[in-house]
Amino acid sequence: MKILKTKDYLDMSRTAANIVSAQVILHGKSVLGLATGDTPKGMYKQLAEWNKRGDLDFSQINTVNLDEYIGLSRDHEQSYYRFMYDNLFSHINIQINNTSLPNGLAEDVEKECQNYEANINKLGGVDLQVLGLGHNGHIGFNEPDTVFKKNTHKVELSESTLNANSRFFNNINEMPKSAISMGMGTIMRAKKILLMCSGKEKAEILYKSLFGDIDPMIPASILQLHMDVTVVADMDALSVIKENGFLN
Ligand code: F6R
Repeated sequence: MKILKTKDYLDMSRTAANIVSAQVILHGKSVLGLATGDTPKGMYKQLAEWNKRGDLDFSQINTVNLDEYIGLSRDHEQSYYRFMYDNLFSHINIQINNTSLPNGLAEDVEKECQNYEANINKLGGVDLQVLGLGHNGHIGFNEPDTVFKKNTHKVELSESTLNANSRFFNNINEMPKSAISMGMGTIMRAKKILLMCSGKEKAEILYKSLFGDIDPMIPASILQLHMDVTVVADMDALSVIKENGFLN
């Protein structure tokens, strides 16, 4: 595992954008696994700028997202589809048919999960998976659990996630209580993983995830077993790792 230290959110975003760019430039036909949330927003902005300047071409890129809320339509302002459209897809030359998120309105959720997983496999798996880190150590919406769930599945969101993400809704009651998420197997089969993390409030969970026991109660800890993980984090997020002597 490589840990890249960055000064602050902007520096983290630019460094992560460089890693995604390298993938796009070196392997034009890649499958990118994408995350939503505050963490990757700055990176998407940077990628969109480079695309606009003509330095990056997304025309051959396929994307698959980690997750989507159950019950929100694509055009709901808090759906992850809308997030991706507003923050990235509408600003770059990607073919919208080459982007994919779980359908939050699927009548048969079980079938939607199976189809989503099958689609990822049909694309040949994820080449580079971008991840943010939840306050409870979740990646995608894989919440702390007694087991690591393998494939794309329905998740009941934990209290920690409901509290963290309710900031985007008028009140917590408006927020969906369940989601569809890629599983840990889906994520771990990605050829490369880029974990982004920013801010002091994530410092303890980042430390536990990267240096603690591999425990399904800290879902991101399974990343310690992946052969090609790059962590791009700012100094605030790395502060507890540093205090514990794992970083110069
Ligand atoms: C989003 C996702 C989540 C977020 C995590 C961190 O698609 O899968 O795991 O990456 O909740 O969210 P932020 O970046 O908002 O702190």
